Amino acid sequence: MKKLVVFFIALTVFTGLHAQNSIVLQPNKAQTVINKNIYGHFSEHLGTCIYGGIYVGTDSKIPNIDGYRTDVVNALKEMKIPVLRWPGGCFADTYHWKDGIGPKENRPSIVNVHWGGVTEDNSFGTHEFLNFCELIGTEPYLSINVGSGTVQEAAEWVEYVSSSNESPMTELRKKNGREDPWDVKFWGIGNETWGCGGDMRPEYYADVYRHFAGYVRGNNLQKIAVGPSSSDYNWTEKMMIGLQDKKQLVQALSLHHYTLPTNSWVGSKGSSTDFGEDMYFATLKNTLVIEEFIEKHLAIMDKYDPEKKISLAVDEWGTWYDPLPGTNPGFLQQQNTLRDALVAGTNLNIFNNHADRISMGNIAQVINVLQSVILTKEDKMVLTPTYYVFKMYNVHQDAKLVPLSLVCNDYEFKGDKVPAVNASSSIKDGVLSITLCNLNPNKTETVECSLDAKEYKVVGGKIINAKNLADYNDYGQAEKVNMQDFTVAKPKNGKLSIELPAHSVVLVQLQ
Ligand code: AHR
Repeated sequence: MKKLVVFFIALTVFTGLHAQNSIVLQPNKAQTVINKNIYGHFSEHLGTCIYGGIYVGTDSKIPNIDGYRTDVVNALKEMKIPVLRWPGGCFADTYHWKDGIGPKENRPSIVNVHWGGVTEDNSFGTHEFLNFCELIGTEPYLSINVGSGTVQEAAEWVEYVSSSNESPMTELRKKNGREDPWDVKFWGIGNETWGCGGDMRPEYYADVYRHFAGYVRGNNLQKIAVGPSSSDYNWTEKMMIGLQDKKQLVQALSLHHYTLPTNSWVGSKGSSTDFGEDMYFATLKNTLVIEEFIEKHLAIMDKYDPEKKISLAVDEWGTWYDPLPGTNPGFLQQQNTLRDALVAGTNLNIFNNHADRISMGNIAQVINVLQSVILTKEDKMVLTPTYYVFKMYNVHQDAKLVPLSLVCNDYEFKGDKVPAVNASSSIKDGVLSITLCNLNPNKTETVECSLDAKEYKVVGGKIINAKNLADYNDYGQAEKVNMQDFTVAKPKNGKLSIELPAHSVVLVQLQ
């Protein structure tokens, strides 16, 4: 079979067939399960992500369930959100969880020093977050304060949340109205400890991690250590060396990579809505590079962990543009266009294709901040193009990854190029799903698929596209970018042929 695949690829390359793009799928070799948590999200006390976005309080005129926006609850359930990280981000390392429990009128206010210097009244705390997760059917992922917190504070939080022992912490939880523990598996020990979480060196943080992790106790907890930013391979290497003899304390290393069109944290990052093909092309390049980062970090991890016990959790990713004009710059509010849908689809295809080592992904942030799936303004809500990508791709959650080889045209721009098409595929309950992105904004790309059209019939198809790359959905207006039925997949010469319109994200399902 392997020889056949190589022959097919060679044939397509040498006969020039690749000008139409070709994809070889091996459903009979599907083994690795795509962890549904790759489709996770991130909620932070930043701008209007929590207050206004998720939580409006029980006295609000906005329809709500125990203070949580009804429209948001329904939209997130519909999208299928498997895991949600909280409370930050940089915010997490200023957060003292005991400020956010007990009667709201007794909770102290703090200043949100990282995000706009606004007052945080702590009315949304541990109970409010964990109950929200139960309401929308998602697994919580809590981020422990390492930067300004103590080991005791961390140990008590775990006890308060997850223990069924009799102890001062569980008594306190019961006094605050929650008899049974919540089921919290995922615990992040610090956030960006190389930056806003303490400006540490990896050698030092590895020891701090060991110290905290030893006191974060419970059954089957998944502890996640702060990993690198983008291409910081030194951080990964030093962390793996520092944890080598204590691997049982760490189940995953995180990776953060944001897509900045300008590729620079200094100066303007570019507008989220007003961009030309140059900025679009740069955005794609700075997205696609994550595959190289992932592979290089994994190679370093494998050197120190050949049994591959420690996985990679991409627990912050997404686009980062200039804040919308007229908004608080500390709130990181941006629009979300068709360009963002292509970024999301591409990242998720890459994560799926590395599902043997990637255990989680958390796009930043779920509502009203950076590459959000939902935007809200007072009582109004819009679903962004990125929302529809997560909805389309949810077929991959916990499905088996189908090995795939893709030979495709380049999308060329001003002497530079990126692969025009990217894809991933999975199989679940006998249905084979292929998700594809055509990044070329100027040309339809037709992909010939190796599967025999007599053996596989098209049973479903969806597409996300719009007239313009910069199209987005706005409050009170008809959606310009959403998910539609897709039918341009048909048999050709006995094989399946898929026509991908310019700048589109497509799902094809076969049985
Ligand atoms: O997502 C915004 C910020 O980006 C997060 O708080 C932080 O972890 C990262 O630097």
